[in-house]
Amino acid sequence: MSAVLLQVTDLSVSFPTDAGRARAIEGVSFVLHEGETVGIVGESGSGKSMTAMAIMGLLPKNAVVTGSIRFRGTELLGMSDAALREIRGKDIAVVFQDALTALNPVMRVGDQLIEAVRVHRPESSAAERRARAVELLDIVGIPSPELRVDRFPHEFSGGMRQRVMIAMSIANEPDLLIADEPTTALDVTVQAQVLEVLREVQRRTGSTVLLITHDLGVVAGTADRVMVMYAGGLVETADVDPLFYETAHPYTAGLLASLPRIDRRASREDRLYQIAGQPPVATAWPDGCRFAPRCAHAVAGLCDVVVPPAVPVVAVASGVEADAAGAAPGIHTAACVRVGEWQKEAVL
Ligand SMILES: Nc1ncnc2c1ncn2[C@@H]1O[C@H](COP(=O)(O)OP(=O)(O)O)[C@@H](O)[C@H]1O
Ligand code: SF4
Ligand SMILES: [Mg+2]
Repeated sequence: MSAVLLQVTDLSVSFPTDAGRARAIEGVSFVLHEGETVGIVGESGSGKSMTAMAIMGLLPKNAVVTGSIRFRGTELLGMSDAALREIRGKDIAVVFQDALTALNPVMRVGDQLIEAVRVHRPESSAAERRARAVELLDIVGIPSPELRVDRFPHEFSGGMRQRVMIAMSIANEPDLLIADEPTTALDVTVQAQVLEVLREVQRRTGSTVLLITHDLGVVAGTADRVMVMYAGGLVETADVDPLFYETAHPYTAGLLASLPRIDRRASREDRLYQIAGQPPVATAWPDGCRFAPRCAHAVAGLCDVVVPPAVPVVAVASGVEADAAGAAPGIHTAACVRVGEWQKEAVL
């Protein structure tokens, strides 16, 4: 297996708020290896962006962070702003959802790309930087890149702007590319094209991609591995196939059931399944399993008592005590005390 690029251990992020302490993420552990594409999936507010921000060192100043984030063995938490800036954009880069606000509207696209290259490669010549800008636009599939390089962001469509953002983020061949809801603002056809661009970038650069989305359908065709997040924690982690075919957490099952499926003909009676209730808020997580108030398989006195740790699925099913292995290739974990039991109950 390829080398470990990023190791996140027991990561927690909280904020003081008027409504009390918001425990945005708690006890998140996972490993990313070189060249992998890993998805983080979960509803809005589950802590996906906070996880990305913590890795980027871009959390708000009032955030309290504990745990460890090691990038190629070097601890990022507690690193100076200057050292983090050096890593950001060069070794770790991010693509956000909103490409229009992230690009400078009064600066030509090419000049923005050239600037990104110049910051980390000051020794390069002006001609080299321009050639690199054109090459980057070509990599992300922008037609006539040598002409488009001199255009302004408003001359690009939404999907093309998101391609430009991806080009910016890979300008310095980062080892880790974090894409936070990169397709959410786009229509379905353009979404598919942008995901294809991400796959192509991954193939050509070999970088590790962390793909954040609220849509399990988006990761199905893109990621090698998926981490499902609910109420600030990872509730299930697995390679893509086991996640879909040997689902171990009721929340994942709910997400899967609410996916539109082309093999099911839609009729008026056949409305899409929706998980009952609303996600809880970070200032008032429920006791025990945080999914319990919405879980059709919850057992009172069991599920609402202790927070289930994420443990390897086979170990849970056979009743063996296991340490939380954290999310890693080939390992299937679930944070549910009823794994092996709930699947026997037909309630969806
Ligand atoms: N600046 C902040 N201060 C306090 N709480 C915050 C702040 N930003 C986000 N949160 C809380 O952190 C939790 C996780 O948010 P986020 O990571 O943005 O979710 P996601 O990206 O999955 O939609 C949410 O409950 C949100 O309310
Ligand atoms: S621990 Fe209980 S409430 Fe939580 S997901 Fe499992 S069955 Fe549902
Ligand atoms: Mg988010």
